[in-house]
Order: sequence, then structure tokens, then C-alpha cells
Amino acid sequence: MYRIGDIELKYLEEAFESKKLFRVGGKQVVEFEKGWRELTGAKYSLLISGGGTAAITCALVGLGIGPGDEVIVPGYTFMATASAVLMAGAIPVVADIDESLALDPADFERRITENTQAVIPVHMIGRPADLDSITEIAQRHGLKVIEDACQMDGGSYKGRRVGSIGDAGAFSFNFYKIISCGEGGGMITDDADVFERASIFADGGASFRPYAKDFTIPVFLGKQLRASEIMGAVLRGQIERLDGILSDARRNAAIVRSELDGYKGLKIAPMNDPEGDCGIKVVFIFESESEAIEFAKSEGVGGTRPIDTGKHVVVNWTPLQERNVMHHPRMNPFLFEENKGLNADYTAENCKKTVDICNRTVYIGISPDWDEKAVETKIEACKNAVK
Ligand SMILES: Cc1ncc(COP(=O)(O)O)c(C=O)c1O
Repeated sequence: MYRIGDIELKYLEEAFESKKLFRVGGKQVVEFEKGWRELTGAKYSLLISGGGTAAITCALVGLGIGPGDEVIVPGYTFMATASAVLMAGAIPVVADIDESLALDPADFERRITENTQAVIPVHMIGRPADLDSITEIAQRHGLKVIEDACQMDGGSYKGRRVGSIGDAGAFSFNFYKIISCGEGGGMITDDADVFERASIFADGGASFRPYAKDFTIPVFLGKQLRASEIMGAVLRGQIERLDGILSDARRNAAIVRSELDGYKGLKIAPMNDPEGDCGIKVVFIFESESEAIEFAKSEGVGGTRPIDTGKHVVVNWTPLQERNVMHHPRMNPFLFEENKGLNADYTAENCKKTVDICNRTVYIGISPDWDEKAVETKIEACKNAVK
């Protein structure tokens, strides 16, 4: 969450005055979904209360993924990407990342088996995955692509907004994201059936939607993930701010990168599309773990190694390693007959390259609100750290 204020208050006031806070019959969620379609270029857009985790699950449900299916996810992503796959009853299969911090296309291809149905490239810390290579491989193997754009709201890849390039895209609007309404998630797709199935799933069986009568797919039960008008109102305002946030962050990040790349051995990690990158982080890659640790903790740098952030690297996905993933053992996908023998390996040995990269990488946060002086201060701190 970077900016919030009068614009959001205007739409909130509109919602309050209408006395309609329920999305059905209200205007705010509908307007947000329309705005998000226009922004991303997708044909269908769904706002849900359940966050990015539920948005990925909606996409998987929409695509008909379930027990017996393997879904490839990168070893560096918030655990939610993998847990969403389990919520759909399928098995997340972990592939390595490369130095861009996103899914390594070659390793993705190596992990494909006859059971693989989909891949989830994740655009971590505002940086796009190599979607050209990933979609080409996926098409060749007949796999669906779900973009996890939870950390990249509004960013792009080669001129197209992320989330709109795969078969479906998922966004998070929780507090830590580029735009936010506190919590919440979004799913987009161009496929009417995917949208319909996701809508049924997210509406507790589509009992409330006025347009449920137009659905052609028989209604099944799902979760109750309806977004409220409060969420819609705040996010309508956030859309209006989004491109301003991105251009300011990109400007600051570009200055930091150009000043520091190559400075006394500092190396900026490779990027799949510097123009599309959201600019919220600048990423350095070091030769050794100790150099990375030293740099991260140097005064004023405020650096973070991906390995240190909790549940963002496969080795830290404890519930998956312990197979402790559902409230009732009979609903645990790891124990499903259909999932027996699938590639459920969440050890460091299975993802050595990911662990190595996450140990040797340091990112620093970039604020769109920094002025020239603040940008200069950060650059100086990084220079001092390697002097
Ligand atoms: C890459 C990624 N995927 C999914 C999620 C899940 O989003 P949420 O917390 O909104 O459910 C997050 C949240 O931090 C994330 O960073």
C-alpha cells in the first residue's frame, strides 16, 4: 500500500450514501471490475474477498484442475501459490527459479510429466517472469498457464499487463501490495467458461448473482468469497492511482539501478523486462552467501535476502513438508488415491538452484514517494556498503 486518500473516500461516500454495501445491486465492485478489465485488457474480471490465494484457486477451479493433476510452481514464491493448488485438490510440483527470481523455463520443462496440467509463473517482487518462454513451452505440452501476479498489480511484460497473458491471472490486494483495500483478490481471464466456473465457486454456488441465470455450467457448491462494496470503492480509487505509483517507482528504481550496476562489483540481477518491472525493488546478486549477508545488513541499505522472509522459499513451506494441509485427513490431497506417486517433493535437494539463488540475492525496497534526496541517500548507503 503506497497511496490512499481523497479519491477512495469519494467512492466510499458514494457507497455509504447509497446504503448498498452488498455487491449484488451495488455499483462499486462492478465499476472496479470494469476498470480492471480496461486496465488489463482481459475480457472477464472477478473481485473477491478471499485474497490472492483464493484468486489462484478460482483460476484453477475455473480451468478444471483437480485431483490427479500436477501444477508446476516456482520454488521461490509465497507458500499461497502452492497452497492454492492443494485447495483445488491437485499437487504442486516445484521447479527452480533462475537469477531473475522467477521460474526457470528450462527447469519448468524438465519437471513436466504426463500428469502435468498447468504451470503458475509467479511475478515476484514486481518483476515479470519470462512469459515468452514459459507460454511457448506450455503450449507445446498442452498446459494451462495461470499467472500469479499477486506481487505485481498493474505491472507489465513486453507491453502487456501481467495477468492477461496466460489463460488466467490472479492478483492480491492485501496490505503489502502495490494497490490495496486491506485484503482481497482479483482474477482475470478471456475464457467465458473459466470465468463462469470461477464465479460459481466464489459465490457459494452462485446463489446471489443476478446473472447466474445466464450461466450454462450447472451450479456446484463453492466458497463464499463475494467482495463488498467497501472493497470495490477503495479499489476504484486505487486503480486511478496505479499508473502514477508505477511510473514514480520505476523512475526511482531506474536511477538506483543505473548508479549501482557495476559499482565496485555490485551486480544487478537479470530482469525479464526492465520496462515492465514495477520498480518497487532493486535486486542484487552476489557471488557468495556471505557477501549477500554482509551487504544486506550494512548501514542504511535495508536489504533483504529472499531466503530470510518466512514462507517465500520452498524450504520454508512447513505444512507441505509435513503433509499437514487440510482440516480433515480425508480431505488432504496428499492422501488422495489419484495423487499417489505424483512429484510432491519440497526438500532443498529438489530445488538446490533456488536455494542457492535465494541465499545470494539481496533486494532493497524502492518507494514511489522518494524525492531525489531520498534516492541519493539510498544509493550512497549501497555504495558505502561495498567500499
Ligand atoms: C506471490 C503471492 N501469491 C499469492 C499471495 C496470496 O495473496 P493473499 O495474501 O491476498 O491471499 C501472495 C501474498 O502475499 C503472494 O505474494
